Amino acid sequence: MITAHFNLELSGALSSTRGKGLTIGFVPTMGALHAGHLKLVERAKQISDFVIVSIFVNPTQFGANEDFDRYPRTLDADAKLLASAEVDVVFAPSVQEIYPSGEQLEAPSAPAAASRFEGESRPGHFNGMLLVVNRLLDLVEPDFAFFGQKDAQQVALVTQLIADRNARGRHHCHLVVVETVREPSGLAMSSRNRFLSNEQLPIAQSLSRALFAGATLPTRGQILERAKAEIHPEAKLEYLELVDPISFEPTEVNKNSALLIVAAKVGNVRLLDNVIIDRK
Ligand code: PAJ
Repeated sequence: MITAHFNLELSGALSSTRGKGLTIGFVPTMGALHAGHLKLVERAKQISDFVIVSIFVNPTQFGANEDFDRYPRTLDADAKLLASAEVDVVFAPSVQEIYPSGEQLEAPSAPAAASRFEGESRPGHFNGMLLVVNRLLDLVEPDFAFFGQKDAQQVALVTQLIADRNARGRHHCHLVVVETVREPSGLAMSSRNRFLSNEQLPIAQSLSRALFAGATLPTRGQILERAKAEIHPEAKLEYLELVDPISFEPTEVNKNSALLIVAAKVGNVRLLDNVIIDRK
């Protein structure tokens, strides 16, 4: 496994891979890897010949009062995990490599879905996410890009970004969405879970319990009422909604699939989760 810190090292590895006619799978991450990330890697290994994982804690997607400085950085441990998963290249660039000073990067336009829910709670977050994902896709030009359903609104926006890039004739990329990996308790795996104390765990676990309980019921009203009742009173609920998976507009349960989404703070730790409700 090669660890590349510079764009030049990355492009060297890429051109020899392309020269051999191999397909490239790309898994963008911010590191502090867990089994959820490794599921994306596993899927990438299954369907692509050569797998690149990026580790970059992207400053532009964190707000001024958010946890950019506190975000866990565990490059050595991450590299060990990726080497045992037989990843070909780890791309761990500096901020300067991704955002060269004086260079104006193309900023993809954010669709309306970017201003709802996570976009409302974290202004600018999705602009920063789209900026870095677009930049990474330009650098890697993968045939397949892997994203987790855990971040459902990110998936909706990246779906549109990749469709737009493909329509504009960039190297054609196929988006692969991978299901959420959970702890045995149901808690969705997240790099931020390591900040939860033993006392906070049951509070955090009430989020997935709420989603699963709500998802069994037939109507929007019943789903939301049941889910809300399951949420631990000490969780600071930010939103709980049933939405369309692309527009993120509130929706009824109908022939199309819907997403039940939740965000809450447990102590200082902000947690997200969702389940797909498919009645087709
Ligand atoms: P990060 O939070 O590190 O997540 C990297 C990828 O892993 C994302 O696609 C995310 O949805 C996926 N993932 C996280 N937890 C998961 C879980 N429990 N099950 C399945 N997949 C999971 O998302 C980001 O980084 C950044 O926004 C990024 C796309 C790298 C841009 O900076």
